[in-house]
Amino acid sequence: MRALEHSLVFLTFLTGLYAYTWPSNIDYLEGVMYQQAGYRRFGVIDGVTPCSFSSEGEGKQAAAEWVRTAFHDMITHNAADGTGGMDASIMFEMDRPENPGSAFNSTMNFMINFYNIQTSMADLFALAVYAAVRACGGPRLSMRGGRVDATGPGVAGVPEPTDDLETIVAQFATAGFNTTEMIQMVACGHSLGGVHGIDFPDITGDNSSTNFVHFDSTFSSFDSAIVTDYLGGATGNPLVVGPEGSNSDLLVFTADGNATMRSISDALSFSNTCQAILQRMIDVVPSSVTLSAIIDSIPIKPVAIQLTFDSSGTLAFTGEIRVLISDRDDTELTVQLHYADHDGDIPSNNTISTAEIHSTGYGYDAEFKFYAFSAAVPNGISSFNISVAPSSGGEETYDNGGSGYPIQDNIIFLSSHSCLVQETDANGNWNLTAVAAVRNDESLTNPSFDVVVKTPRIGIPVPSLAVESSAMEVWNTDAYKGFTLYTGHFSLPIYSWSTTFDVTVGEYSDSFKFSTALSGTCS
Ligand code: HEM
Ligand SMILES: *[C@@H]1O[C@H](CO)[C@@H](O)[C@H](O)[C@H]1NC(C)=O
Ligand SMILES: *[C@@H]1O[C@H](CO)[C@@H](O)[C@H](O)[C@H]1NC(C)=O
Ligand SMILES: *[C@@H]1O[C@H](CO)[C@@H](O)[C@H](O)[C@H]1NC(C)=O
Ligand SMILES: *[C@@H]1O[C@H](CO)[C@@H](O)[C@H](O)[C@H]1NC(C)=O
Ligand SMILES: *[C@@H]1O[C@H](CO)[C@@H](O)[C@H](O)[C@H]1NC(C)=O
Ligand SMILES: *[C@@H]1O[C@H](CO)[C@@H](O)[C@H](O)[C@H]1NC(C)=O
Ligand SMILES: *[C@@H]1O[C@H](CO)[C@@H](O)[C@H](O)[C@H]1NC(C)=O
Repeated sequence: MRALEHSLVFLTFLTGLYAYTWPSNIDYLEGVMYQQAGYRRFGVIDGVTPCSFSSEGEGKQAAAEWVRTAFHDMITHNAADGTGGMDASIMFEMDRPENPGSAFNSTMNFMINFYNIQTSMADLFALAVYAAVRACGGPRLSMRGGRVDATGPGVAGVPEPTDDLETIVAQFATAGFNTTEMIQMVACGHSLGGVHGIDFPDITGDNSSTNFVHFDSTFSSFDSAIVTDYLGGATGNPLVVGPEGSNSDLLVFTADGNATMRSISDALSFSNTCQAILQRMIDVVPSSVTLSAIIDSIPIKPVAIQLTFDSSGTLAFTGEIRVLISDRDDTELTVQLHYADHDGDIPSNNTISTAEIHSTGYGYDAEFKFYAFSAAVPNGISSFNISVAPSSGGEETYDNGGSGYPIQDNIIFLSSHSCLVQETDANGNWNLTAVAAVRNDESLTNPSFDVVVKTPRIGIPVPSLAVESSAMEVWNTDAYKGFTLYTGHFSLPIYSWSTTFDVTVGEYSDSFKFSTALSGTCS
């Protein structure tokens, strides 16, 4: 019995209890994290490259703003009662004296490009820290997903430069960080950026909009100069050498007689310490939230998968296979799919070949090749496996953890018949039309069109999201053999023009379609 228990534990470990299977609710976040540039780029790092960059010009630094935003969101966490943390509640708290400046809005206004029903603003705050620290030459942080955005403000309590040490220590302790960790986190954070005269004129002594006094001599490098400048007695850090009564960094750094500061003065200790403490910072969440496993770059990932009908009216399976090539010596690959039809049977030729796209996609920690395919699947498709054969020999098979990559072919979104007409209707909205093909089967009735509607919130750049479902109506019964076409119309608030939607029948959905990819005219 014990032996059996042991082997079960071993087996679980071997197969990876939490191993990634496709599709997953972290798919989008994984793409945003690892596909920064090149083919299928998301481009988060554009906002912080180079490290000194700000789209708002002189006196601002987006990388520093992104890190500060995450800290202000996190530090009101209460470890004892499990409230607050990385929940984007800062969006409701920007009018508090403890949260001055435009940094929070700027961060959200950039991250809004990646915000959707699968990806919370709080997850994007964590991703922002990953990207900003990295863009500035700092250590690599890991990403987990699953943070949930708050729907209203949390408690106050962000430390201010005028607070006394006791107050600051107490706030960090409430959030779950002791004095050593407090010193580490402040030193790591203040490696970037500085103090703005427009928000803290009493500290910098200059209230002009471009006044920006850096914390250290290398404000655009995530390095230990914040520590060495200080220990060397040569710091210009306004929270150390500024007017008495507002030098919180001095209070914090000397809280243990400089011991922690001395321990992180060399480059390697600083980097390792910041890696650990910033990781903890971005993973502080309310106790109601369960974070995902660490999001590694997925070795083999189907992307842009779509069933459709080809010009002869035959069901066709299209998409790309994204292959991680960072750790491959041989990147000349033959990639094929092997599929099972609608009923789970293997057709006589079930091999789908792919064509390499001659442009890679990459980020700090991964590089990918993409292999495109489009093949007729006349009897439908229920799952597929992927084979990857390097030119130097050997063939690898990927089966998504054992059961293949699942595909449903009961409801198929048809983008060629769908459209977003940019003319205002009687409600002042635009008309979003979705067409879906539903398999002729008596169990597949009453498809619905489920649109994510964005509602603006006053004083907050992040809209609320709500799914609105409406019925679809029969449109055509003989366009494609074995399928009935349904159409759905939705009066879409113009504010919501860039959104996502699903078409659903019973338990099946063709989901996460982007309105921005639709034609402006209907066919
Ligand atoms: C005792 C705790 C802290 C106090 C009192 C404090 C105070 C301040 C103040 C007054 C500023 C100037 C803001 C501006 O003018 O825009 C600032 C900037 C900044 N803080 Fe802190 N901070 C603390 C801890 C932290 C921590 C733990 C982090 C992150 C790990 C952090 C990250 C930053 C960053 C990156 C900036 C630069 C922002 C920019 O350049 O736009 N701070 N902090
Ligand atoms: C804070 O916690 C860390 C890790 O548990 C420990 O090494 C350190 O000594 C603690 N610092 C204080 C001041 O208690
Ligand atoms: C900046 O300071 C000057 C001189 O003290 C003052 O006249 C001006 O109103 C201040 N501007 C702002 C935006 O506070
Ligand atoms: C801590 O370091 C600062 C800056 O070098 C120095 O002024 C201060 O005297 C030190 N404090 C202690 C207790 O060593
Ligand atoms: C995919 O692989 C799994 C196990 O490795 C196998 O059971 C399944 O039949 C394969 N599917 C196809 C379509 O070949
Ligand atoms: C099987 O189909 C693929 C295209 O999907 C084609 O490249 C291949 O030649 C076919 N094999 C046979 C034996 O017909
Ligand atoms: C943030 O942006 C909103 C608009 O989305 C605006 O109403 C608000 O005043 C801004 N807040 C700050 C502090 O800039
Ligand atoms: C949207 O356009 C379709 C025609 O494509 C029309 O039948 C429908 O009434 C329109 N819906 C609204 C809400 O305007």
